Amino acid sequence: MTDKEGIRREVPTDLDRFVRGLPKSELHIHIEGTLEAQMMFDLARRNGVALPYGSIEEVEAAYAFADLQSFLDIYYQAAAVLQKEADFADLMSAYLARAAADGVRHAEVFFDPQTHTDRGIDIGTVIRGFVSAQEDAAPDITSTLILCFLRHLPAAAAVETLDAARPHLEHVQGVGLDSGEKGNPPELFAEPYRMAVEAGLIPVAHAGEEGPPGYIRSALDVLGVRRIDHGVRAWEDPELVDRLARERVALTVCPLSNQRLQVFPDLGLHPLKRFMDAGILVTVNSDDPAYFGGYVGDNYLAIAEALGLTRTDLVQLARNSIDASFLPDGRKVALQDEITAYVSSYPASP
Ligand code: ADE
Ligand code: ZN
Repeated sequence: MTDKEGIRREVPTDLDRFVRGLPKSELHIHIEGTLEAQMMFDLARRNGVALPYGSIEEVEAAYAFADLQSFLDIYYQAAAVLQKEADFADLMSAYLARAAADGVRHAEVFFDPQTHTDRGIDIGTVIRGFVSAQEDAAPDITSTLILCFLRHLPAAAAVETLDAARPHLEHVQGVGLDSGEKGNPPELFAEPYRMAVEAGLIPVAHAGEEGPPGYIRSALDVLGVRRIDHGVRAWEDPELVDRLARERVALTVCPLSNQRLQVFPDLGLHPLKRFMDAGILVTVNSDDPAYFGGYVGDNYLAIAEALGLTRTDLVQLARNSIDASFLPDGRKVALQDEITAYVSSYPASP
């Protein structure tokens, strides 16, 4: 659907046009996962970094993932091309431009400070780069940062990361937990989360992507999150599904990621519609679009096709993405009104 510069070349279908014009927010996007192969080569040349690939075709061939870890190994290696403030700014600008073209009005963007600070890059360099691009892109698309702790590293390293970020927290709205899930349960991070919340950050956490439903429970009960990233393995636990609906816990679901990381290799078996029918506040997002074959609009379209979603379902998903965001109530109402106006002015299907 998109070429290597991320530009769509096909004639859009009616549903494609509808989805890309639909106002929405994106709540599960790793900025390091928006590093397109072309930008990886450009930054590698600019910064004199050697890459294990000779061409875009070799990169694409490497992106055949067996599971989350096989993806993470490649993803952390690629981040080595990001070195200077301008690199982080370029990465963020490119993402925000693509998201805006998909109807995204607001994005809550994960970043992994440890991926950069462990290579000797100052966290201030990272955050200043992002913020300059975010300021340039507003008000067409607003955005905020969610600082993630890498869960394959110890909780003490998460505490150090939070401390290093303290001078920059005016630019950070949330705290998250990502990286290899199996064997790294949320409760290990109780202390850094307690400190992050005390510092004013809103907690979210990846849970129930590859890890068991019990990890979703401990993210809720121990870390105090009200929004779960992925959460798809909740479908194995009907009582947990009821709880998520009853407590209005949001799920930030990423269909193409789930497919490419073999969580649901057949998207037709994805539980997203069952979650919607159970009354859960489900949202659709892109996770790491440069690696998984599509930005947020592509994710809406792929899951719509796989599950036979209607326009009404897609509008509900967009409305959920506004409700589940960290935005203040006034902006939520304004964006919901924009959705209403868009839907009522959009021509009916032929
Ligand atoms: N970091 C980037 N993408 C991730 C994912 N899908 N799960 C966990 N950590 C990640
Ligand atoms: Zn993720």
